[in-house]
Amino acid sequence: MELVSLRRLHLLKERLRRQGFFWSMQFYYQRICKLIYGLMVFGRKDICIFPDTRLGGIDHMRIGKGFTAGRGLWLEAVTDYPAAGQVFSPELIIGDRVNVGEYVHIGCNHRIVIGDDVLMGSKIYITDHNHGVYRGDNSESPNVPPTERCLTANESVEIGDRCWIGEFVTILPGVIIGEGCIIGSHSTVTHNIPANSIAVGCPAQVLKRWDEDSRRWIRLGSKNP
Ligand SMILES: CC(C)(COP(=O)(O)OP(=O)(O)OC[C@H]1O[C@@H](n2cnc3c(N)ncnc32)[C@H](O)[C@@H]1OP(=O)(O)O)[C@@H](O)C(=O)NCCC(=O)NCCS
Repeated sequence: MELVSLRRLHLLKERLRRQGFFWSMQFYYQRICKLIYGLMVFGRKDICIFPDTRLGGIDHMRIGKGFTAGRGLWLEAVTDYPAAGQVFSPELIIGDRVNVGEYVHIGCNHRIVIGDDVLMGSKIYITDHNHGVYRGDNSESPNVPPTERCLTANESVEIGDRCWIGEFVTILPGVIIGEGCIIGSHSTVTHNIPANSIAVGCPAQVLKRWDEDSRRWIRLGSKNP
């Protein structure tokens, strides 16, 4: 306990030295606001979220220890869609020590699982559903307004432990991203990404794989990475 207090004091001193009084106080003010809001909404001291966070279907969320998020977070566990007369039992599961940036939107009406120690940049969108089906039989007609089309609810999204998701990434329904992956900024992930890969682009393609023997990221299709 004493060690923790000493470490906190050391961090405070370091911050004051690096950032000066005003910015240090601003940091702690924001942190206190986030802690109070997390306490009010989830009744927990280890969830740090800004008061402008938008939350829907809290009873369908499981958030691990030490969750922190920037401004404009929108977590939505969709339990019903009255326009199409649908009801859902979504599961939005977030692991321990997940850290997300600003304006991240996660929309879930079926199942989204985010592993432990995942780091996300800002302006990220993750969804497990679409307004309507656009493949095969029973596809949605363009003559029906999008708001009246049924929400799909049969695909999950999984993001493995220790993934790092770059800025402005979109992750679409049905995608499994293995543990230890890096998704480059502005990528759109439409297909599964194997563990320990770096994937970039629209649609995201694997660029590099971690090689445990050489302890290097090896570029795919290259002899001289
Ligand atoms: C994904 C990332 C980590 C890759 O880094 P890297 O492995 O060092 O990449 P390299 O510089 O070796 O680039 C390899 C190739 O991928 C391309 N590339 C890299 N990142 C890309 C991206 N996000 N989108 C599309 N292409 C990308 C490069 O142009 C290069 O292509 P080329 O060889 O044809 O010129 C990095 O580019 C990135 O996107 N970082 C995310 C930054 C971010 O969002 N930070 C938020 C802080 S939480």
